[in-house]
Amino acid sequence: MDVQIDITKSKLETESLLLRPWIESDVNDFYEYASVEGVGEMAGWEHHDSIEVSKKILQSFITGKDVFAIEYKENRKVIGSLGFHYSWANDDPKYKDLKLKEIGYVLSKTYWGQGLMTEAVKKVIHFCSDKYTLDALTIGHFSENNRSKRVIEKCGFKFVKQSEHYAKQLQKTFIKMEYILPLSSSICSE
Ligand SMILES: CC(C)(COP(=O)(O)OP(=O)(O)OC[C@H]1O[C@@H](n2cnc3c(N)ncnc32)[C@H](O)[C@@H]1OP(=O)(O)O)[C@@H](O)C(=O)NCCC(=O)NCCS
Repeated sequence: MDVQIDITKSKLETESLLLRPWIESDVNDFYEYASVEGVGEMAGWEHHDSIEVSKKILQSFITGKDVFAIEYKENRKVIGSLGFHYSWANDDPKYKDLKLKEIGYVLSKTYWGQGLMTEAVKKVIHFCSDKYTLDALTIGHFSENNRSKRVIEKCGFKFVKQSEHYAKQLQKTFIKMEYILPLSSSICSE
């Protein structure tokens, strides 16, 4: 079953990062990384071609209350996002009675390869299990996205299946690899 997540009162701290709600003044940092070609495209959306696009999406993050801004503690810049979505597993008879959420993330290209998203995801896993007592988290990556694949593996998710995903903004169909991470004893991971 789907679960409502409200991150507006949550702040999660890791060694290098602060995960916190978005605020309107984050727009320049958001545009800086979201306008770089090849970042959003790996997650199914087109890079932003104007700051107006970033403003609109940022507003939807604030209203939706289910996306963290990822702030880099060293320079206080927002360098990415991590959000909660409806999970494919809600539509699978094997998992549909469980409390589930899908996570998705994007990081500024400048900061790739330093272990930062793995650090963020590991923290969020604890948050979901402690605060929301979720039974499982799910996650997915496009088949060619080996960086995201590694993050998912390093965080302990188990591969379940592959599916087709049509990315409307990119007008392209991708093969998506879907994973699950059990968080409670209500689910076995075989
Ligand atoms: C996917 C993404 C979030 C990864 O963040 P990150 O902080 O760079 O991830 P980490 O540093 O924690 O881990 C990256 C891993 O990929 C590996 N890697 C780097 N380049 C790689 C490549 N070309 N092929 C395969 N693996 C690669 C790294 O070595 C590292 O694995 P390791 O720790 O085993 O060495 C980031 O690349 C990103 O934002 N990409 C664009 C958006 C996106 O793909 N979102 C996810 C949609 S599913």
